[in-house]
Amino acid sequence: MITLNQVSKSFRLGPTWSQVLAPIELTIERGSFMSIMGPSGSGKSTLMNILGCLDKPTTGQYLLDEEIISMQTPKQLARIRNQKIGFVFQQFHLLPRQSAWKNVELPLIYSGMKKKERKQRAFAALEKVGLADRVHYKPTSLSGGQKQRVAIARAIVNNPSLILADEPTGALDTKTSESIIQLLRELNQAGATVVIITHETEVAAKTDRIVYVRDGKLQEAAS
Ligand SMILES: Nc1ncnc2c1ncn2[C@@H]1O[C@H](COP(=O)(O)OP(=O)(O)OP(=O)(O)O)[C@@H](O)[C@H]1O
Ligand SMILES: [Mg+2]
Repeated sequence: MITLNQVSKSFRLGPTWSQVLAPIELTIERGSFMSIMGPSGSGKSTLMNILGCLDKPTTGQYLLDEEIISMQTPKQLARIRNQKIGFVFQQFHLLPRQSAWKNVELPLIYSGMKKKERKQRAFAALEKVGLADRVHYKPTSLSGGQKQRVAIARAIVNNPSLILADEPTGALDTKTSESIIQLLRELNQAGATVVIITHETEVAAKTDRIVYVRDGKLQEAAS
């Protein structure tokens, strides 16, 4: 479902360019459950931003479900993100003054769904992540693990085929972290492709494939 052909990314730094991703090759099969590891600053989030259609490669071609992402306009990219991709971040990125329900509903408002269906879908997503009894809670009244579950409910409410998680357990203790990875595994078993960026070897060990990023280059873990 995902192919990167000679994809590179450079950022302009004053008069010069700094290459963060060397031209890389990467194929991710539909239904994969994989992780990306590597030192701080190696280019993991840069790679994730490209996979998530948040940023375009400087050179090379990105194919997502046969669509050439590198050719799309910002508006088309926004539609692809909304329909196909769910994002999960270390710091949850929830709206603090809105309930779990309203946070989860947000992507559905962008996709133009009617109010009644939005509510049904948001409640169903929250039930899926084990928070049926917390739909009216605001993030400030939820634990870290519960906040991440709300963020995951928001990520899956549009039934994305791809879930991208950048350090989803980085702010959680070991036990909570395990339950979040378990939840991502369940979503994978239900059909989603899941890519997890992590610094934790215990987290990566639970995935089926590990790719290392070092100085902007990829290296497959021996399996
Ligand atoms: N918008 C940008 N403009 C310029 N440089 C950038 C930009 N985004 C990232 N970089 C640089 O690219 C390099 C890789 O950053 P990236 O965020 O991908 O690292 P990372 O592997 O995710 O690190 P961490 O583990 O700390 O999150 C860094 O040196 C960073 O300074
Ligand atoms: Mg990062």
